[in-house]
Amino acid sequence: MKVIGLMSGTSADGVDAALVEIEGKGTETRVKLLGFSFLPYPGDLRRAVLDLCDPEKGKVDNICRMGVVLGEWFAQGALRVCQDAGVDIEDVDLIGSHGQTIHHLPETVTLFETPVRGTLQIGDSSVVVERTGVTTVSDFRSRDMAAGGEGAPVVPLVDYFLFRSEAIGRVMLNIGGISNLTVLRKGCRREDVYAFDTGPGNMVIDGVISALTGGRDGYDEGGKRAALGKGSPELLDSLMQHPFLVLPPPKSTGREMFGAPVIDLVLERDLPENDLIRTVTHFTIESIADALDRFVFPQCDIQEIVVSGGGAENPVIMAGLKKALSGQEVVRIEDRGLPSEAKEAIAFAILANETLAGQAGNMPRVTGAAHPVVLGVVTPGRGCRISVDSKVKI
Ligand SMILES: Nc1ncnc2c1ncn2[C@@H]1O[C@H](COP(=O)(O)OP(=O)(O)O)[C@@H](O)[C@H]1O
Ligand SMILES: [Mg+2]
Repeated sequence: MKVIGLMSGTSADGVDAALVEIEGKGTETRVKLLGFSFLPYPGDLRRAVLDLCDPEKGKVDNICRMGVVLGEWFAQGALRVCQDAGVDIEDVDLIGSHGQTIHHLPETVTLFETPVRGTLQIGDSSVVVERTGVTTVSDFRSRDMAAGGEGAPVVPLVDYFLFRSEAIGRVMLNIGGISNLTVLRKGCRREDVYAFDTGPGNMVIDGVISALTGGRDGYDEGGKRAALGKGSPELLDSLMQHPFLVLPPPKSTGREMFGAPVIDLVLERDLPENDLIRTVTHFTIESIADALDRFVFPQCDIQEIVVSGGGAENPVIMAGLKKALSGQEVVRIEDRGLPSEAKEAIAFAILANETLAGQAGNMPRVTGAAHPVVLGVVTPGRGCRISVDSKVKI
């Protein structure tokens, strides 16, 4: 099967599109990357997306229309990766489209006497199917939430498929807007895997830079500004008091917690700009190291930390992690055969493949769901004969 995975994470930096050849399913999945393309959102589109995430600014008419705009962007991502790889879209069997998360509320509240958690990814799959003709799986998180889970993270299953090892214990660390990790102890089985969000990835760094440059720069390219600054131990200390950091897993978080509330707190400080940037970069490093010390190393013998996501492109983050984690080898996912930028998009191609195979895509221990469920909503494309076995297989 040729499958395209489409993803835009909490950084809202643009659409990642991966075209893969998939053979098999579950632990037998074999995947070969045929192409990867990135369609960056222009600055004003990124700001419009971030505005939607803000309860004050995210108005329903905008959310409604932006779902269509982003549907077009995801469709373009699919068409572009085919073009770049020299593959005809007609030869593509399936798309897995994560969409753009604009809100993720994993904590339970009671509304109209109903306990609710909710998550919202936009980017209309109908638009994607209309433009590409390809059957598309989307809305990967809601079913897990309906089954009592947090709806996140969902990539750990793919980490388990592709990176479990009989020889060493591994942690897969993805530093996107939020940073998350998957623990694959040596010789682990599916039910041994656990994973959680550690807290900030690039979100606070991006937010601070954007505010300091009046929106001109969206991130700290190559960690250049952090490298010029001096960390403030006092500010770092107060950031590390964030209550999320000590919550026991399973746990997930997002822009609601590590967007404006933290960024505004940092911007109030009267410190040189580069010192602020250095300090929030250290916040990312320290919160990851703290999560490993607190929730991973006491339980599991880990030899290797495999880093992916945009944070792997920041040398200050990578150097900081190597220094903080002297007992483990810290490598980039490239060193283990997968391009860092493509990892999450590949994961949604594989999860879509699981959905069509009628295979459970969540891991109850990871999300807190009551049981395994098949993930996603299927929008049929040309020639689609959907037959999903309703008896959930693991
Ligand atoms: N060359 C780079 N130097 C520093 N930071 C980078 C670089 N490339 C990407 N990043 C960071 O990574 C972020 C995007 O990471 P990504 O893994 O796509 O996150 P998400 O999954 O949240 O979209 C950017 O917003 C930026 O902060
Ligand atoms: Mg991204």
